[in-house]
Amino acid sequence: MSTLQLDQRKHLIGLRGMPKSEILSILDRASHWESHPVTITNTLNGYFVANMFFENSTRTRFSFEVAEKRLGAEVLNFTAAVSSVQKGESIYDTVRTLESMGIHAGVVRIKAIGVMQELADRVRVPIINAGDGNNEHPTQALLDLYTMRKHFGTLEGLTVSIIGDIKHSRVARSNLWALRETGAKVQFCAPENMTAPELAEYAPFVAMEEALKADVVMMLRVQLERHEDGLFRSAEQYREAYGLTAERAARMAPHAIIMHPAPVNRDVEIDDELVECGKSKIFEQMANGVPVRMAVLERALLG
Ligand code: CP
Repeated sequence: MSTLQLDQRKHLIGLRGMPKSEILSILDRASHWESHPVTITNTLNGYFVANMFFENSTRTRFSFEVAEKRLGAEVLNFTAAVSSVQKGESIYDTVRTLESMGIHAGVVRIKAIGVMQELADRVRVPIINAGDGNNEHPTQALLDLYTMRKHFGTLEGLTVSIIGDIKHSRVARSNLWALRETGAKVQFCAPENMTAPELAEYAPFVAMEEALKADVVMMLRVQLERHEDGLFRSAEQYREAYGLTAERAARMAPHAIIMHPAPVNRDVEIDDELVECGKSKIFEQMANGVPVRMAVLERALLG
């Protein structure tokens, strides 16, 4: 396997600014992989991909690993908690270290915002953003769009309500950029102290009653790990004001679907009985993460 030429690499740092044609081409390729009958292919035989998670993850990390293995890549899993990061090594030096050992691509999740592009600019292998702070989570939004398009047949003209902790949500931001670009209308609904005024020019903040009328009701987890003190009073108060309760879900349109990027706080932002109800796409979203990430890895390494 020769070293990738610089012009062959394709980072995926975010969806802001990604053209509609490119978004749809990733979704189309994911559709190919979803229907592909062979579990493991030799598409990325000889390529080494490192999953470097400096923040916790279950879905993103494991679905990348499944995607990499289905494509026949060699997979290296880096875990910050048992690495030299604990001795003070920087994220850049960690990525450079793995790069020097011959990896061909890095899947990276970090807490810091603004570092991902800088990292991508300084290394020679494609970097795929697996979530950076509250900035972007591009592969989550791509799998969300994939799930919506699969259900409705198109993204054009859909109304998508994203409800909850918008302020701290990279999922909300990546979905906003990609949905607007592909012809959907996005609206937000959030407690006063979890809004994001800088996003209001792109999507209106609406009341819960209005949000429930959408084609897609996407609930977000309250991201306590990113909160300053005092933002969140109690789970019960939050559920009453901003949770998708069974009573609220009964007021959604018959054709509408429920989504959530997970992990889910059952009985906080969504009632336990709704998580796996007929309208819910939550576990289908997770399943769709694998073919979508296969498409993203292929784009990064084979262009
Ligand atoms: N949706 C998502 O990013 O989940 P993980 O944090 O478990 O990867």
